[in-house]
Amino acid sequence: MDLGIKGKSAIVCAASKGLGRACARSLAREGVSVTICARGEDALRATADEIRTMFGVRVDAVVADVATPEGRAKLLAACPQPDILVNNAGGPPPGDFRQWTRDDWIKALDANMLTAIELIKATVDAMAERGFGRVVNITSGAVKAPIDVLGLSNGARSGLTGFIAGLARQPRLASRNVTLNNLLPGVFDTDRLQSGLKIQSSKTGKSIQEVSEARRATVPAGRFGTAEEFGEVCAFLCSAQAGYLTGQNILLDGGAYPGTF
Ligand SMILES: NC(=O)c1ccc[n+]([C@@H]2O[C@H](COP(=O)([O-])OP(=O)(O)OC[C@H]3O[C@@H](n4cnc5c(N)ncnc54)[C@H](OP(=O)(O)O)[C@@H]3O)[C@@H](O)[C@H]2O)c1
Repeated sequence: MDLGIKGKSAIVCAASKGLGRACARSLAREGVSVTICARGEDALRATADEIRTMFGVRVDAVVADVATPEGRAKLLAACPQPDILVNNAGGPPPGDFRQWTRDDWIKALDANMLTAIELIKATVDAMAERGFGRVVNITSGAVKAPIDVLGLSNGARSGLTGFIAGLARQPRLASRNVTLNNLLPGVFDTDRLQSGLKIQSSKTGKSIQEVSEARRATVPAGRFGTAEEFGEVCAFLCSAQAGYLTGQNILLDGGAYPGTF
């Protein structure tokens, strides 16, 4: 299916690896020019080269920490008026809330709530003027089914979710073909998952294969999601066809969430 977004431009945050990279690839395949960012230069340049070679679109790579005002300014300077914005950043560390300081909370809120809000603020009104805009926020299945040790993530991402629920319904955006949705990953096979499995293996003394199988067994699909599957759903949310789909939280988790809604 042609997604009807050829020639559009996108900012995809935190996209040298994993889910962000997959979103950038799927958009590029549709003929969207992409501006991607990450903090580490080597992986970012490699991803940019790969996407350019595979899909022949314009790819701008911006070395930046998107959770900082300077990083966001660099990103917006490279692409001041995107048609599509995919918000993403690294997730906060696990732990016990008794040990977290105000600084820990501010870091999590900055990365997983306020950064997305700042980038939305800088871009959506111009999208509305042009009559097309798509915002996709990568959040987490933990917004729907909180994970105890990920309290920083549960809290910060739920804050973003509540904000988006209100903003997406503003007529000045919705009536101008600007949609805002959240994509909630369950367990996806990315570097982040692999490093989590390694930590679990060294803590429990079990092999990586054992902890990996135990984790897979929690997913009715019997496997981890692939980044490519995630990128494809993101591209659909950014499509011309998805113009009536806004303010939603779309869970991609292989059936792991046990509820009806
Ligand atoms: N994978 C899953 O199963 C899963 C499940 C639930 C939620 N999530 C959430 O989804 C998001 C993406 O996860 P992932 O699995 O794709 O992670 P990943 O494989 O570790 O990739 C993270 C990407 O984000 C970049 N990045 C991280 N922090 C950044 C920052 N402050 N500024 C710019 N770039 C940044 C990284 O590059 P640099 O390090 O070089 O900056 C890298 O390109 C995270 O928030 C994660 O918590 C993932």
